[in-house]
Amino acid sequence: MTFVPYDRPVRAAFVGLGRIYDLNMRGYVANPDVEVVALVDPLEERREQRQADWPEAATFPSVAKLAASGIDVDTVECLLPIPLHADGIIELLDRGWHVNAQKPICNDLAAAQRILDAAKASDRVLRVMENYLFYEPLRKLKAVVAGDDIGEVAGYHVKMVGSGNGGWDVPWSSFEWQLKQIALGRGIMVFDDGWHKLSTALWLFGPVREVRAWIGTTSFGSGIDIDAPAMIGWEHENGVRGVWDITLAPDLYMRSDYYTNDERWEVTGTKGYARVNRIMARGIQQPSVEVYCDGEMRAYHALDDDWASSFRDSGRHWLRYLRTGEGPLMWSAEQAVDVLRFALAAYASSAAGGIGVDPREVI
Ligand SMILES: NC(=O)c1ccc[n+]([C@@H]2O[C@H](COP(=O)([O-])OP(=O)(O)OC[C@H]3O[C@@H](n4cnc5c(N)ncnc54)[C@H](O)[C@@H]3O)[C@@H](O)[C@H]2O)c1
Repeated sequence: MTFVPYDRPVRAAFVGLGRIYDLNMRGYVANPDVEVVALVDPLEERREQRQADWPEAATFPSVAKLAASGIDVDTVECLLPIPLHADGIIELLDRGWHVNAQKPICNDLAAAQRILDAAKASDRVLRVMENYLFYEPLRKLKAVVAGDDIGEVAGYHVKMVGSGNGGWDVPWSSFEWQLKQIALGRGIMVFDDGWHKLSTALWLFGPVREVRAWIGTTSFGSGIDIDAPAMIGWEHENGVRGVWDITLAPDLYMRSDYYTNDERWEVTGTKGYARVNRIMARGIQQPSVEVYCDGEMRAYHALDDDWASSFRDSGRHWLRYLRTGEGPLMWSAEQAVDVLRFALAAYASSAAGGIGVDPREVI
């Protein structure tokens, strides 16, 4: 790839102006690295709503109309529904634009290969954003684990409780494409939201060599089959084991400015533990990180634990990358494919009764 950083603010377009735009746009606000020049969404209502954020930007109902307008675009913030990711990302790359894509990269390895080929052929940079890697409490966890406060890492646990009660409104149109994903066996809990847990595991402890999973289904009728309860365990190449449990609690009310998942990460060391108490919802309302060692608990009270800040910082990181070339991308397309392999290994294991599956060998 022959990418040369820009010596001027990059010219960016948003493609997809739905729910998650509200958080992704934060990296672009008052950012001298970028000029937002275009907004694309087939829904007029969305275009009008988002135009208020960027009065100077031109709006279009399709990428084709943006391309035909002659407006110069360097990079696209791609916020399309998951079923459109593969073809959508390829179209943007083929038009000669760098792409910051939402996770998951796509649904299967064949589509992933098409995307990688398109990035190579177009000589553009493809990033698959992972805002969790920019969430300050998780960054603190990573720093604690790398230090010697809790001793050697003995293992870790990720907990996720799904609830739809509380939080912000999610438009029905978002559920419609989620139903398509469910029908393809790519559920909301394991594949969509779960992507972040798998991604974070790779970021914290490196490559995974074996995955064992038991993925259940809870049916709410009309095709709404939620992929929980689920239990997924794995072993990293460094020998550390992780386990993730997904539980549904449909009537659980969670105070949240965003979605209502109750989540936590807990790493156990040989002489202590470190825990992130919450991410997107205000589940455990204690300091977001607590570290226990030698009979004492240290609590971090002043971290930026607003989940939205992770989107802001991820977006700023990408735009800085385009200006300076300073990485790592967090994540590159190839790293996103590693996360995809991790998820596919969990599905393969569960389908085969929970046997160990090496993510490097899934097809
Ligand atoms: N990082 C995170 O934590 C996080 C959280 C939520 C969603 N997401 C991801 O963000 C993406 C979008 O999710 P969402 O919740 O905003 O969905 P959404 O349904 O609210 O928004 C999608 C938008 O894309 C528009 N769209 C559809 N087809 C289009 C096309 N061809 N061209 C341009 N726009 C088109 C729709 O009209 C809609 O406004 C998904 O990939 C999802 O997985 C990530």
